[in-house]
Amino acid sequence: MTIHIGAQPDDIAQTVLMPGDPYRAKWAAETFLTDAKCINEVRGMLGFTGTWNGHRVTIQGSGMGMPSLSIYANELIRDYNAQTLIRIGSCGGMQPHVGIRDVIIAMSASTLTSPSQGIFKELNFAPTANYDLLAAAVAAANETGVKTHVGGIYSSDVFYDERPDLNEQMTRHGILGVEMEAAELYMLAARHNRRALAVLTVSDHLQTGEALPAEDRERSFGDMVEIALKAAFG
Ligand code: HPA
Repeated sequence: MTIHIGAQPDDIAQTVLMPGDPYRAKWAAETFLTDAKCINEVRGMLGFTGTWNGHRVTIQGSGMGMPSLSIYANELIRDYNAQTLIRIGSCGGMQPHVGIRDVIIAMSASTLTSPSQGIFKELNFAPTANYDLLAAAVAAANETGVKTHVGGIYSSDVFYDERPDLNEQMTRHGILGVEMEAAELYMLAARHNRRALAVLTVSDHLQTGEALPAEDRERSFGDMVEIALKAAFG
């Protein structure tokens, strides 16, 4: 047990999928895993371990934002020896060619700041995905037929943004979408020599104001979970 995860040491698999929303962890575990067992309920941040195609996998909520994700990813890595961590989550589209329901596989994640900023100080470290996971996710996405984009994303610290000029600069520099967790996951994985990737579903669009209707969410998020599982074990 750790401060934030109530699981026994061997309750957690070496491969962990991390949605922001704990109820999405429950839904993904019930939908995709065999013999899923709830392994964490501390603070309602649900986690489940089961098997997918014979492979042991944990799906653990991360909460919203990099400080929350940092707590769960640190404990999964340091105390439970997680080796492969894949964020599955939603993001806001930032390019005209990126549509609602599309999947974004994040090659890099830019930030203004992050919980790791204190380490890097004046250095602008470039948080990047694990290449093997990225390549496997692209291959899996091509199999599903879902429209997929591979490139840079922006991990913001705010959802209600008082600096729209930052979004404009990100868009001008080709950033595909905005979310709030991936960059810190990539930095932690780099620090601890683990594999990390973020596979994201576009749930809303900053330019068009479109948003995914509630009834469409499950199907779209399902594509993303399938891509993440195939990438992890492909
Ligand atoms: N901004 C930040 N995070 C997000 C968004 C957004 O528009 N959509 C989904 N996650």
